[in-house]
Amino acid sequence: MNLIELHDICKTFYLGEVVLPVLKGITLSIAKGEMVALTGASGSGKSTLMNTLGCLDRPTSGTYSLDGEEVSRLSNDARALMRNHKMGFVFQSFNLLPRTKALGQVMMPLLYGGTHVSQKAAKQRAAAMLERVGLNDRMDHQPSQLSGGQQQRVALARALINHPPLLLADEPTGNLDSQTTREVLGLFKQLNEQDGITILIVTHDPKVAASCKRVIRMADGLIEADELNGGGPS
Ligand SMILES: Nc1ncnc2c1ncn2[C@@H]1O[C@H](COP(=O)(O)OP(=O)(O)O)[C@@H](O)[C@H]1O
Ligand SMILES: [Mg+2]
Repeated sequence: MNLIELHDICKTFYLGEVVLPVLKGITLSIAKGEMVALTGASGSGKSTLMNTLGCLDRPTSGTYSLDGEEVSRLSNDARALMRNHKMGFVFQSFNLLPRTKALGQVMMPLLYGGTHVSQKAAKQRAAAMLERVGLNDRMDHQPSQLSGGQQQRVALARALINHPPLLLADEPTGNLDSQTTREVLGLFKQLNEQDGITILIVTHDPKVAASCKRVIRMADGLIEADELNGGGPS
């Protein structure tokens, strides 16, 4: 079954007199369990597409069905619920709270996501998730006491604490060196293969794209290529 089905998605920005068509008719399906790279030149519309998929932004026209539910016309509240339950986000900038320990960062969505989890249960789940991303010995560290790769792992643990079926990552390795990129990528692959999380990664890095089974390339608001990799080097 397809987790994501987009049909003829258009997104146009209106800036005063200026009409800026950014997505020009994207039709795309992503099945449960896929790990997909989204590539393309800067300005081709990758982040706009991710924002649409992430229910952060509404398309101007077209339909978007997520896990069997048509989301493009849901209310803002319903879309916020979709975001909380169906997807996790990671970005190039890790977006961690500056003076909060790793454990606290990962607990946050449980305590404020409307999921009614006790403090104790939240702590246990956050600790287990930090262990899952290899940070069992860094739970009490603040972001400034962690390397870039470790910070991205904390962000990843936070994104996945509610067990969403979909992980959306916009340039997640953009601020990481090549060794750390490999480590974080290995973790993505592990989560994809072992936990079956569907992952969509926006990336400029050919090595990151090569390690995804499927690569979608955008150009000027359209899909220019949609290809399967042999698996690639890891
Ligand atoms: N909120 C916005 N308002 C107006 N224009 C935007 C907005 N977001 C993105 N754009 C424009 O849409 C185009 C595609 O941007 P983006 O999706 O960020 O591309 P990419 O992520 O591929 O670099 C760019 O020309 C950008 O200036
Ligand atoms: Mg972008």
